[in-house]
Amino acid sequence: MNYEELMLRAITKAEKFKFTAKPNPVVGAIVFKDNEIISEGYHETYGKNHAEINAIEKAKNYLGKKFESFSELSLICTLEPCSHHGKTGSCADFIVDTGFKNIIIGAIDPNPKVAGKGIKILQDNNISVEFGLFEDRVEKQNKFFFYKHKNKKPYITIKIASSLDGKSHYNDERVFITSQSSLDDVQKIRAEYDAILTGGNTLRNDNPKMNSRVNFALNQPKKILLTNNAYSKELDFFKNASVDVFKINDLKKIINSYQKSDICSILIEAGPKLVNSFLKEGIVDELIVYSSTKKLGEKGINWFYEDNAIENYGFKLESSYKIDTDLKEIFKK
Ligand SMILES: NC(=O)c1ccc[n+]([C@@H]2O[C@H](COP(=O)([O-])OP(=O)(O)OC[C@H]3O[C@@H](n4cnc5c(N)ncnc54)[C@H](OP(=O)(O)O)[C@@H]3O)[C@@H](O)[C@H]2O)c1
Repeated sequence: MNYEELMLRAITKAEKFKFTAKPNPVVGAIVFKDNEIISEGYHETYGKNHAEINAIEKAKNYLGKKFESFSELSLICTLEPCSHHGKTGSCADFIVDTGFKNIIIGAIDPNPKVAGKGIKILQDNNISVEFGLFEDRVEKQNKFFFYKHKNKKPYITIKIASSLDGKSHYNDERVFITSQSSLDDVQKIRAEYDAILTGGNTLRNDNPKMNSRVNFALNQPKKILLTNNAYSKELDFFKNASVDVFKINDLKKIINSYQKSDICSILIEAGPKLVNSFLKEGIVDELIVYSSTKKLGEKGINWFYEDNAIENYGFKLESSYKIDTDLKEIFKK
């Protein structure tokens, strides 16, 4: 297998851990000698070993059997090995200490804590480093991670369910607007995000769980609540969850506070007040609208008060799908 084939294999197999590694990026690593794969490792779980460490630890089982010294081997890494000591040690130092002489890297890590520093550690220790192989694929695979570091803010998506007449809810009773299939689709969308954000009214009126109820293993999104008023900690929202509560209304300040955290993406699921406040701030990247054929009528509360409000906020329709009788539309800036 050549470098291209090995890199594509590492990228493809890393994808399996997308939901358990998040909010970390997915990363794959392959240790090989000439045409033979000695071992493979992946970043499987958030907070646990990085891919390179898993691959190298497995390779050690073959020392003296398939090879005599790590200097005979090469290492493929889809993302630049880290240079900092976070939840685990520095992978670049570990690679140097193991004795590799040849490393092939997909993309440079956009995290300013790393960003080229991992490569420098390797090169300063006389390791031959090639980088940039399928970097576009690695970036696409970790789109929220790259977005957050490039834009210095998490990727923000708003999800709303709208009736045919453009309404969000009734003030006096909880109502489900869309079909079960759309509700199931929302569970999968939640699984993709690092955090879910809502406002005080939705919390108190709906008592939502706002976790991701899917049939695969995942690192559940963190929850974020914006409220200045009293609420009960017994509500479902707080059950088995890590929740950040903000008692301030400055939305940019709240979002910017996540710049230095691991959170790369936030899904907003709130009512018209908070949704319109976020849209007015201009810090939203994507809007997902589920529209049903049901009408809420006069008693229903409008999502927006002008025609073409979504377009007027600067969004363009990117795609639309039918889900049962509902319509799912995705708008991006
Ligand atoms: N159809 C849907 O997709 C959907 C989705 C979610 C919710 N809903 C419905 O929406 C209803 C609530 O809607 P809502 O518009 O009254 O409330 P909301 O948008 O869910 O929340 C508004 C609350 O957020 C807090 N907040 C903090 N900073 C804010 C800011 N800068 N701008 C606006 N709000 C800020 C305030 O909480 P405090 O007042 O606590 O300080 C404010 O009252 C619920 O009853 C629910 O049924 C519908």
